[in-house]
Amino acid sequence: MMGKGLYTAGILGTGSYLPETKFTNKDLENMVDTSDEWITSRTGIKERRITDSKTACSDLAAKAAINALNDCNMSASQLDLIIVSTVTPDMMFPSTACLVQQKIGATRAAAFDIEAACSGFMYSISVAKQFIEGGVYENILVIGSETLSKITDWSDRKTCVLFGDGAGAAVVSRVQQGYGIMSVKLGADGSGADLLRMEAGGSKNPASIMTVKNRMHYIKMEGKQVFKFAVKTMERAARDVLSQCEMDVDDVDIFIPHQANMRIIDLAARKMNINKERIFTNIQKYGNISSASIPVSLDQACKLGRIKNGDNVLLVAFGGGLTWGSCLIKWSKHDIGEEII
Ligand code: UT7
Repeated sequence: MMGKGLYTAGILGTGSYLPETKFTNKDLENMVDTSDEWITSRTGIKERRITDSKTACSDLAAKAAINALNDCNMSASQLDLIIVSTVTPDMMFPSTACLVQQKIGATRAAAFDIEAACSGFMYSISVAKQFIEGGVYENILVIGSETLSKITDWSDRKTCVLFGDGAGAAVVSRVQQGYGIMSVKLGADGSGADLLRMEAGGSKNPASIMTVKNRMHYIKMEGKQVFKFAVKTMERAARDVLSQCEMDVDDVDIFIPHQANMRIIDLAARKMNINKERIFTNIQKYGNISSASIPVSLDQACKLGRIKNGDNVLLVAFGGGLTWGSCLIKWSKHDIGEEII
């Protein structure tokens, strides 16, 4: 999906929000039969953030959204569209995007959700890119927001050590030609749908006493199979988007992978021959926050000065569905009217 439109789409501002409450591996040791040593060595995770019982997905999303708007001095009233990616919406409907629209006062904006599990932010960016390039919209807010703690089975040690809560956002708008979102590649394989799922709450298994009793409103995962898929997919998706842009791994200034497991990141990096200095990770502090993982990382990488104008930024995600997505951005936070040096 290369840019061939009237305009070039790029990211003008980023923002994130992480709940304050930290949940450490030691805390988990008191809940299930696990250890800090096991979690650290098998996943790289040391702690994660958890929302309180009153906070919903749209609350985190709205805070990340405001931070992203402030980052590029844009007001909510300038937004044409809000896309929220999430597997933990406030409710089945209305969409979380509509709730965010109201919370931030984006009265002009259309709003909808996208669900592609941990790849959701990549899917959302690809949609925003089309709207910008085609000249349909000028300013689009793309948010990845998750409250995975609410669908985590805190008695299942195979999954409860992995996930956390948080939100990240990006303002996608017109940028100077030669910069911005160069290409996005998406993929899906529904034959692996059973590997990562929440079975109840939809039309197949509506909420009932039976579904609650059978703990069907929690994440279920076949970890080993997802692991194998992830390592293979991370490399393939990265190479696909690079080859579409006629670039090589050596051209990448910073690689921001989905933060699911440090071992997945290390193995994929080794296969791609990309050194650690060029990889951004924060899994140690936040665990796996699904579709918020990449936008939170992108925002933190920017704020830490790890991304400069002109850098080639590679984003790669994979997740339930199964789904995957990769995106290559030539970084520029200037809008179309400004000169980029
Ligand atoms: O973003 C969505 C995508 N999700 C992912 O990318 C997750 C991909 N999968 C993984 O990251 C890994 O498969 C896990 C971290 C989930 C599991 O690591 P693993 O190295 O594949 O472990 P395993 O499932 O093979 O389990 C090894 C052993 C088992 O014990 P036995 O059967 O060998 O006695 C498990 O019961 O470790 C045991 N185990 C644990 N022990 C302590 C599983 N979970 C835990 C735990 N603490 N939390």
